[in-house]
Amino acid sequence: MKKPLPLSAHIISSEQYDAKKLKRLFLLTKRIKESDKKYRQLLKGKIVATLFFEPSTRTRLSFEAAALRLGANLISTENAAANSSGIKGETIEDTIATVQNYADLIIMRHSDDEAAEKAIRLARVPFISAGSGKKEHPTQALLDLFTILDKKEHLDKLKIALVGDLKYGRTIHSLVKLILNFKGINFYAFPACKLNLPKEYITEIKKRGGTYQEVTSWKELPRNLDFIYQTRVQKERLCGEIFTQEEETKCYLNKKVMAQFGQDTFVLHPLPRNGEISSDFDQDKRAIYFEQAANGMYLRMALLLQLLGKI
Ligand code: NCD
Repeated sequence: MKKPLPLSAHIISSEQYDAKKLKRLFLLTKRIKESDKKYRQLLKGKIVATLFFEPSTRTRLSFEAAALRLGANLISTENAAANSSGIKGETIEDTIATVQNYADLIIMRHSDDEAAEKAIRLARVPFISAGSGKKEHPTQALLDLFTILDKKEHLDKLKIALVGDLKYGRTIHSLVKLILNFKGINFYAFPACKLNLPKEYITEIKKRGGTYQEVTSWKELPRNLDFIYQTRVQKERLCGEIFTQEEETKCYLNKKVMAQFGQDTFVLHPLPRNGEISSDFDQDKRAIYFEQAANGMYLRMALLLQLLGKI
């Protein structure tokens, strides 16, 4: 039997990326976004498997659209928690050991924090994490950062507010680690319902030359913020936390809240949203969350090409 592939063949954490690797990925993403014509057949004959043990719209469909646009074929379990052998008690390792016989690359989302580490233990084909529990969502962080760079063209001394569920939001966790590849990042944290950023991330921010300040209202945030990264409370991951509606809605963003910020304060959200961004703000030029979601497909096309050695 072939040996398992090294970590570098997979994407399981945003920690795998440094500035150099990001530059290469973003350049390719930009080229694909400008015109995907010359990439359309590059994955012809390849089979990509998507295994989603948790709900998804954007991540699954953008990965699948990315694979199809590159000419690959797909095999998929949309609701793997109910429709795959996981429900029969199969381990992640066994699922991967099986599916890799059918596919050239596996994309998986799972509720287990360690799902990706387990998946790559025996993986002989490239594996991409599409979200592991509350811990990581590396490809979301990559598309978030691509969108950030696209808007600002630099990252020096960036001021970014992390809003909402900073405790269980895996997109926040992956993004914080990824952005720390750049110097002098100023983080402002505005957690909903006392769902604070875990200490390990705050320590990492400080260790890597960033600043971190927690606030309890919109008014405490500086007017010249570069980005507001809004998130929903991850109700499916709560561990008995009790909070009032007011503790959740104080973080809600709308036209009125945004009037206090400048015209260069852009609003990101990994989506889906509940009530935390009012649709009355959607037409504002600073609302870039749908553009962010659109970038996801191009970024994922680039990742598939890189992992399958076509670029
Ligand atoms: C996020 C996720 O699944 O972590 N969604 C996404 O992938 N775009 C955010 C969320 O579910 O709140």
